[in-house]
Amino acid sequence: MRAITVRDRDAGVSGLTLTDMPYPHAAENDAIVRVYAAGFTPGELDWPGTWSDRAGRDRTPSIPGHELSGVVVELGYGTTGLTVGQRVFGLTDWTRNGSLAEYTAVEARNLAPLAADIDHTVAAALPISGLTAWQGLFDHAQLTTGQTVLIHGAAGGVGSIAVQLAREVGARVIGTGRADDRDVALGLGAQTFLDLDADDLQHVGEVDVVFDVIGGDILERSTELVRPGGTLVTIAMPPTVRPKDGRAIFFVVEPDRARLTDLAQRLRTGRLNPIVGAVRPLSETASAFARHRRTPGKTIIQVADEQGTPTSF
Ligand SMILES: NC(=O)c1ccc[n+]([C@@H]2O[C@H](COP(=O)([O-])OP(=O)(O)OC[C@H]3O[C@@H](n4cnc5c(N)ncnc54)[C@H](OP(=O)(O)O)[C@@H]3O)[C@@H](O)[C@H]2O)c1
Repeated sequence: MRAITVRDRDAGVSGLTLTDMPYPHAAENDAIVRVYAAGFTPGELDWPGTWSDRAGRDRTPSIPGHELSGVVVELGYGTTGLTVGQRVFGLTDWTRNGSLAEYTAVEARNLAPLAADIDHTVAAALPISGLTAWQGLFDHAQLTTGQTVLIHGAAGGVGSIAVQLAREVGARVIGTGRADDRDVALGLGAQTFLDLDADDLQHVGEVDVVFDVIGGDILERSTELVRPGGTLVTIAMPPTVRPKDGRAIFFVVEPDRARLTDLAQRLRTGRLNPIVGAVRPLSETASAFARHRRTPGKTIIQVADEQGTPTSF
């Protein structure tokens, strides 16, 4: 099968190569999914799991990409909950071959059913952004109605979903980003927007929750905005400072079939809209990763079209 692989950690994006790889093995509780659309995270070539298995052993050549939408073609020994021919979407394991391939093996519990009226290219944009936004806002920061949340990177993959979920629960949302992101963030439901290059973060005042996706100096300067008892949650890096009378949490997103099912239902009813940016074929993965020019939304790699015809390699 055709797949994008990486072998050399120092090669960066230029090491992403279209290769012939063996068809994957379905282990216990796995599903083999024929991938129609895949999502990736630009920084994943720096993640340890891209290069090593769970025991820390080299696992190259490895296939990146951890979001997928496709169709189940095979089930491993003892796998329940899914059927062959079913449309599914979800997350692949960080330390196994991923979704930038024609086929991939995934633990079935990390996949959720996908209704026929949701395009694979839209579904592939949701797993990491949707689960990360949900877990950050509600599982870790316990955001509730009437509270105020500051969401950094509000027009980005995770931030754009977080803004929509936070508004729906009845929170007041302050979004941040670059000047060009203002209209997107306000259009998604943020009541206020802050241009991080031009506006003073300290003018925001106290907030119940900070949701950070940027890290560094912006993360540090945000800690003092958290009101006593509030929470700073970040997905960028473990924080080195914490709010005076509040909590600071860094986490890595976890798979969750029930939540994915809920997010897909929101998508169907129009309550949630992931921003899909460019849609590119597998052969253009390296340039999609490199992204020299800013493109709004999540870049999706289309491996096969909605009829199942492989896109041109
Ligand atoms: N811990 C986890 O479980 C987890 C899960 C998902 C993602 N992540 C990480 O979280 C980060 C965000 O992911 P994402 O998918 O949301 O990325 P994304 O789509 O690139 O969104 C990030 C947004 O923040 C903006 N931004 C970044 N730095 C900025 C700055 N200094 N000033 C103003 N705006 C800035 C970006 O603008 P530009 O595009 O102009 O830079 C973009 O709009 C990534 O580092 C990713 O690896 C972690």
